[in-house]
Amino acid sequence: MQIVQRTAELRACIARWRHAGERIAFVPTMGNLHAGHGSLVTAARERADRVVVSVFVNPLQFGPNEDFTAYPRTPEDDRALLRSLNVDMLFAPEVEDIYPRGNEATARVHVPDLENILCGAFRPNHFMGVATVVTKLLNLVQPDLALFGEKDFQQLMIIQRATVDLCMPIDIVGVATSRESDGLAMSSRNRYLTAEQRSVAPRIFAILEAARSQVEAGSRDFDRIEAQGMQSLQTAGFKPDYFSVRDAATLGMPITGLKDLVILTAARIGRARLIDNVRATAPV
Ligand code: PAJ
Repeated sequence: MQIVQRTAELRACIARWRHAGERIAFVPTMGNLHAGHGSLVTAARERADRVVVSVFVNPLQFGPNEDFTAYPRTPEDDRALLRSLNVDMLFAPEVEDIYPRGNEATARVHVPDLENILCGAFRPNHFMGVATVVTKLLNLVQPDLALFGEKDFQQLMIIQRATVDLCMPIDIVGVATSRESDGLAMSSRNRYLTAEQRSVAPRIFAILEAARSQVEAGSRDFDRIEAQGMQSLQTAGFKPDYFSVRDAATLGMPITGLKDLVILTAARIGRARLIDNVRATAPV
């Protein structure tokens, strides 16, 4: 596995692969890799000749009071996992490599109608930071396809929209959420949980599943389902930001007759803010 920090070196290597007609898949991450990231890499490996993984904790997507400094960094373990998964290149730039002019001065990417709803309403500028860094990384790597987890469903939709709207000829592939055996979605932020909080955390998925059952049984009273979800999370000991039933294609409010829905939530417990979602097929 090649380990590259500088963008010029990255571009030179990619140019050689392109010249040889190889198909390139790209998996952007912030490191502290777990089996969820691993499933993206495995899906990439199945679809391309070359797999590039980036590890970059992106300052632009963290708010002033968020966990940029505390975000877990485990470069040695990350390298070992990526080697074991047969990755061709690890791109691990420093902040100066990605933001040579500083991250405040950089040009930015906005997806206006998706970036301020759901998580965006609670994390101002977060999705601008995500869309901007992912656009920069995609322009550097110029892959044929890039893979993102459905765990971050809103992020996946925003990247899909940004690449289509900005005419970037890249397939954006969504990969199903990897879960612990008790249902908790794998996340680097799970390591912020104490043992007691960890034992409560799987309730998020259970509460989403209960909402899914109601939707799939034909309930269209989404206001009630959302209020119940918020209440159940509070009772379990979370401070929920939102619990919302949406149109899976647009993230807009579901309209009557719509079949493909997604139920999304974000909830705080202790130091951690956890997010999760499930798809639901409403009977029409
Ligand atoms: P990070 O949280 O490291 O996640 C990197 C990728 O792994 C994302 O596409 C995310 O959705 C996916 N992922 C995380 N946990 C997963 C799980 N349990 N199952 C399946 N996929 C999972 O998301 C980011 O980094 C950043 O915002 C990034 C896109 C790299 C931009 O900085």
